[in-house]
Amino acid sequence: MNIQKIIAKKRDGKELSRDDINYFVTKYTDGTITDYQAAALVMAIYINGMNEEEITALTLEMANSGDILDLSEISENVIDKHSTGGVGDKITLILTPIIASLGIPVAKMSGRGLGFTGGTVDKLESIPGYKTDISINNFIKNVKEVGISVIGQTANLAPADKKIYALRDSINCVASIPLIASSIMSKKIAAGANKIVLDVTVGSGAFMQNKEDATKLSNMMKSIGKLANRETVCVLTNMNEPVGYAVGNTLEIIETIECLKGNIPEDIKEIITTIGSYIIKLSGKNDDLEQNKKMILENIKTGEAYNKFLELVQNQGGDIEYIKNPDKFEKAKYILPVISEKEGYVEELNAKAIGEISVILGAGRIKKEDSIDKSVGIILNRKISDGVQKGNILAYVHANDEQKGKEAVEKIKSAYKISEMKVEKEKTILGVI
Ligand code: URA
Repeated sequence: MNIQKIIAKKRDGKELSRDDINYFVTKYTDGTITDYQAAALVMAIYINGMNEEEITALTLEMANSGDILDLSEISENVIDKHSTGGVGDKITLILTPIIASLGIPVAKMSGRGLGFTGGTVDKLESIPGYKTDISINNFIKNVKEVGISVIGQTANLAPADKKIYALRDSINCVASIPLIASSIMSKKIAAGANKIVLDVTVGSGAFMQNKEDATKLSNMMKSIGKLANRETVCVLTNMNEPVGYAVGNTLEIIETIECLKGNIPEDIKEIITTIGSYIIKLSGKNDDLEQNKKMILENIKTGEAYNKFLELVQNQGGDIEYIKNPDKFEKAKYILPVISEKEGYVEELNAKAIGEISVILGAGRIKKEDSIDKSVGIILNRKISDGVQKGNILAYVHANDEQKGKEAVEKIKSAYKISEMKVEKEKTILGVI
């Protein structure tokens, strides 16, 4: 085997064999293949694509590059949930305690933010004391004790994906169906769940810009799931505007707490009830999706979901006084309003632009090794279809650097498009596959 021949094959639009893919994954993971050789192959895959056999082989090879967890001791059906990424996406934080409060065990490994999309692990780490890097044994112990644990991906879970994902990010090759499908499914297979619910985001703040591509990606992940004996459901959700109103780590934790107390924006309510209803169904607890939606809302109303979140935080070493009293969270130094210069209705609120602005403020990373500023971000005050008067506040920028804050204010004005005509609200759930 030699990597030059493998690169040439894909460069010329030919199919890679299972042996080619095995060689690439093992030798790139152990450092024999260099970053520049891997970058050439990944770019060739990005341009020329892969067929279903190749994608399945890449998924299985990446899954097998590290530990494969066995979570069957937790429950007969262990369900995992994963999002293809978005802006203001705090669904995992809100939904997992709700599901655990219904008696369904949640053993969830999440990622960090990269590019313009945020990550659950960074958000959880803005709760003082919360540990996201516990051992697998403690992870399983926590799930057994309180029914839930949410941590970061352990070092040896699909290490090939970790390396290839970082490389893709650095050479702008993330938004590719074969590469996203294999990346997500390799981690899900390695993480040990036998049922998987995927939030496939669609729109300006997602890697899939339209429903057609999101459908292709979903069908691909479902067929990989079938082959690997993991029942998989994909829920297509709108990511043309950010989810909810908060973007930024601490700000999203505070919005999560509010949601768990029952103050839930409409888009978040639709996403958690839809995805949650499928999670409950796959767990074997109840097949009726409408009843499941009611159970979710009921557990928020009774405070059981909020109490489960407190248990999760406490069990992971987090200080629950911050959850009980969110005013304790450190605030950004400058809170600057973004004032509308126009009157009308919000026609567009570009999620990708908002994500990029929050990264510039310090809420996300440009490079993998960058540190993040937990308190900064954006609170939206108007979303698509909302009416606006001249002088109304469209959003607030939370910044620790005054100059960056002022620049963010101007950029946010351009992320909003205000129309004179009334604008319909966009659908939040675009389909279930
Ligand atoms: N999320 C992942 O885990 N991998 C991708 O490639 C894209 C989103």
